[in-house]
Amino acid sequence: MKIALGCDHAGYNLREAVLKFLSSKNIDCLDFGSKEFLSEDDYPDAAFKVAYSVSENEADAGILLCGTGFGVAISANKINGIRAMACNNIESAKSAKRHLNLNVITMGGRFVKPEEVEGILNAWLDTPFEGGRHLRRINKIALKEGSTLNASPENNGRVVIFNHPLIQHKLGIIRDINTSAKQFRELLHEIAALMVYEITRTLPLTEKEVETPFAKIKAYTIEGKKLAIVPVLRAGLGMVDGFLDLIPNAKVGHIGLYRDPVSLEPVEYYCKLPFDIEDRDIFILDPMLATGGSSATAINMIKKRGGKKISLVCMIAAPDGVERVHKEHPEVDIFIAALDSHINDQGYIVPGLGDTGDRLFGTK
Ligand code: RB5
Repeated sequence: MKIALGCDHAGYNLREAVLKFLSSKNIDCLDFGSKEFLSEDDYPDAAFKVAYSVSENEADAGILLCGTGFGVAISANKINGIRAMACNNIESAKSAKRHLNLNVITMGGRFVKPEEVEGILNAWLDTPFEGGRHLRRINKIALKEGSTLNASPENNGRVVIFNHPLIQHKLGIIRDINTSAKQFRELLHEIAALMVYEITRTLPLTEKEVETPFAKIKAYTIEGKKLAIVPVLRAGLGMVDGFLDLIPNAKVGHIGLYRDPVSLEPVEYYCKLPFDIEDRDIFILDPMLATGGSSATAINMIKKRGGKKISLVCMIAAPDGVERVHKEHPEVDIFIAALDSHINDQGYIVPGLGDTGDRLFGTK
């Protein structure tokens, strides 16, 4: 685990105690300083560095220190995906983690003594997030900002909402009942490709030497990651080419599931995966995450066949679907473009966009 740390002059008195705590727990520290006492430094500077590092997944969580814990918390909360709060005692740390899955804890050097730091940080790290209705509430906050949800020090699966203007613009058109099947196909393809761009943001790079017409330079290449995409038939097919446009070497598996019209539960009818699925980073493509039944079943089918590192990519999700997938597969990252309000009696997402398969293939 890696935790980012930042402080201003008024929180500096707690810095040593935090560093000591992290090293005693063998937790890597991404140290944004200030590494020396600077009486004129401003807390937002440290707060933004730490918050961005958590928001962009360079660090799993963050610790911020100022005089009260308040200024750094307000600043950090401006960054997408951050849930920061001042926890100047053990009880606050426990309850903030239980209910808010606090991913940045802040403390005030004027309220907390260095010897109290260990207890507060232990309470934060050791208390589990309760999920359930609290996850639903966090999801609502994230929906407002369009952000990473549920990032936690235990490295739980995340829900990442892609708020990129191009994705949101295309989503607006694809939802429209008057959009033709042709346009619908093109838009799903484009949205999938834009999502790949965001999903692959953290792929590891290695250096390699390249000779340009003028000089030899050190350039970058993506480390030999083995990727697989697995569309859930049939709607997932609409996302395949968008993925392959950008990651052409990914192998493609297929999973066939239909939804029983009465129980609404998924029934398996096909599964063909790359032979080396256990070595691959796997992205399941399922445009609509409604009840979560088919996605959770698809994840099970892949796990049974040896798949380990699995993420789910959906265009639109309902809170029930997110909750079910994370209940059954808490480690799976869920990437979505929108989190809608609810599902109706027929199991469709509302407002959603109707039945993706039918709209994609013009079958209704
Ligand atoms: C700095 O003097 C102080 O205002 C700051 O550290 C913090 O307490 C703000 O909330």
